[in-house]
Amino acid sequence: MRIKNICCIGAGYVGGPTMSVLALKNPNIRVTVVDINEERIAAWNDSELDNLPIYEPGLKDVVKEARGRNLFFTTEVEKAIDEAEMIFISVNTPTKTYGKGKGMAADLKYIELSARQIAKVAKSDKIVVEKSTLPVRTAQAIKDILDHTGNGVRFQILSNPEFLAEGTAIQDLMDPDRVLIGGEESDDGKEAIDALVDIYATWIPKEKILTTNVWSSELSKLVANAFLAQRVSSINAISELCEVTGADVREVSRAIGMDSRIGPKFLQSSVGFGGSCFQKDILNLVYIAKSYGLKEVADYWEQVILMNDHQKIRFAENIVSKLYNTVSGKKITFLGWAFKKDTNDTRESAAIYVADALLNEQAEITVYDPKVSEERIYADLDYLNTRSPEENRRLLKVALNPYQACKSTHAVAILTEWDEFKSYNWEKIYESAVKPAFVFDGRNILDSQSMREIGFQYQSIGISNLNKI
Ligand code: UDX
Ligand code: UDX
Ligand code: ADP
Repeated sequence: MRIKNICCIGAGYVGGPTMSVLALKNPNIRVTVVDINEERIAAWNDSELDNLPIYEPGLKDVVKEARGRNLFFTTEVEKAIDEAEMIFISVNTPTKTYGKGKGMAADLKYIELSARQIAKVAKSDKIVVEKSTLPVRTAQAIKDILDHTGNGVRFQILSNPEFLAEGTAIQDLMDPDRVLIGGEESDDGKEAIDALVDIYATWIPKEKILTTNVWSSELSKLVANAFLAQRVSSINAISELCEVTGADVREVSRAIGMDSRIGPKFLQSSVGFGGSCFQKDILNLVYIAKSYGLKEVADYWEQVILMNDHQKIRFAENIVSKLYNTVSGKKITFLGWAFKKDTNDTRESAAIYVADALLNEQAEITVYDPKVSEERIYADLDYLNTRSPEENRRLLKVALNPYQACKSTHAVAILTEWDEFKSYNWEKIYESAVKPAFVFDGRNILDSQSMREIGFQYQSIGISNLNKI
């Protein structure tokens, strides 16, 4: 089957870049990305490419080439569904904030709404592709909804999880480690899988395109994220041990990473992992394990989250303790709010939780992040519901300039590893700070020796100060 029209429901961090690259590489397929959020669609259509709703290196060039040629962004959801032979569902699946599974299970409300919309509109056979990360067996739920339309339309459901990481989305899409496609083990299922394989094969070598059954594909996505997050929590657990024993976590990472069975990636100790996927996917895994009565499996993975929570709180507590056990009324500067560099995404960012803990101690925080808006920062804090929006705005300020942010500060905390932080004039920052001036480097990006030579009380993660100052 040759696909000529694709529709993608959801123009977010996954749907937007994925469909842009897919359209770029398949000029003969018309790709329409739809979203109910009018503002978001307007931003995707903005003639000024700097106004695209998400920031990803390289995305502008891809959109510039494909948009208007065979890539379209629109709010006309039903029309796009009707015209497409293949529909990707790429809507958000946040952790539930209410009812059964609250705080753990994925909220499938948006997925179900999308499926119902497809069921309502479809007049011809369709292949429906799950792109959002979902709990195992969601495909079955989508199928149940679609198979009861009663209008004779046939649906094939595929699972095609996205493995792109934010900040490197375009690179990851252009040259992925693998593409995973799960489908039904029937003739129709195989035909649907082949149709999707052909689309990816226009730019990805066939040996990197894996096909499995639907459940393996859905589970692999959760497991990949759980394993990656587990590495970060593992090295962060070791970072605390390093701090008390005098070992250096960077040296430990390097030494273990050279074991080819372990490998060097994802061993960077930090203030804690964030992002929309890691925590959500592990919680999902834990929830599924629990729902099948697998207590030990659930407890094992839950520990990855508990360790991550501990790392964030430990960072905040260390700031308080080093600032003579009180930060009340003291200015603390946050460099970075995004959950990692090269993205404006702040979902589950460690910065939010560290800020919340310090605000509880009545610190006065000033934040500078090169890509995150003031509006976003306040929205993140307000979402926690710890204190009133007015109180959040009174205690936390957002600066547009890093030097302004650091002026008269008691301590600078680095929460995101933005490259530009390394090239700041740290002497100048030191001059304008309250002495003794502290730097808490939550990403280990600065050089400890030069920071100490300038005069800072410099603290990094996983490196003991036992033999220094
Ligand atoms: C291990 C380390 O590999 C080695 O670097 C260290 O010096 C000593 O400890 P060893 O115990 O000889 O070596 O064997 P290893 O191959 O690591 O296997 C350990 C156990 O894990 C075995 O029982 C093996 O069957 C099991 N294993 C290993 C698995 O069950 N699955 C795997 O994928 C790998
Ligand atoms: C992740 C997966 O990498 C990706 O495959 C999946 O599709 C979505 O989830 P993402 O959340 O965008 O991608 O970013 P990632 O680079 O994985 O980083 C996640 C978090 O872990 C960040 O907060 C990052 O700072 C942190 N991290 C990562 C570390 O603290 N140390 C590391 O060594 C690596
Ligand atoms: P992700 O990181 O998974 O891409 P985002 O929140 O960035 O998540 O994007 C998901 C997008 O899906 C949002 O822009 C949201 O408005 C959109 N969306 C959710 N439900 C629907 C729906 N029923 N129809 C169209 N778009 C939807």
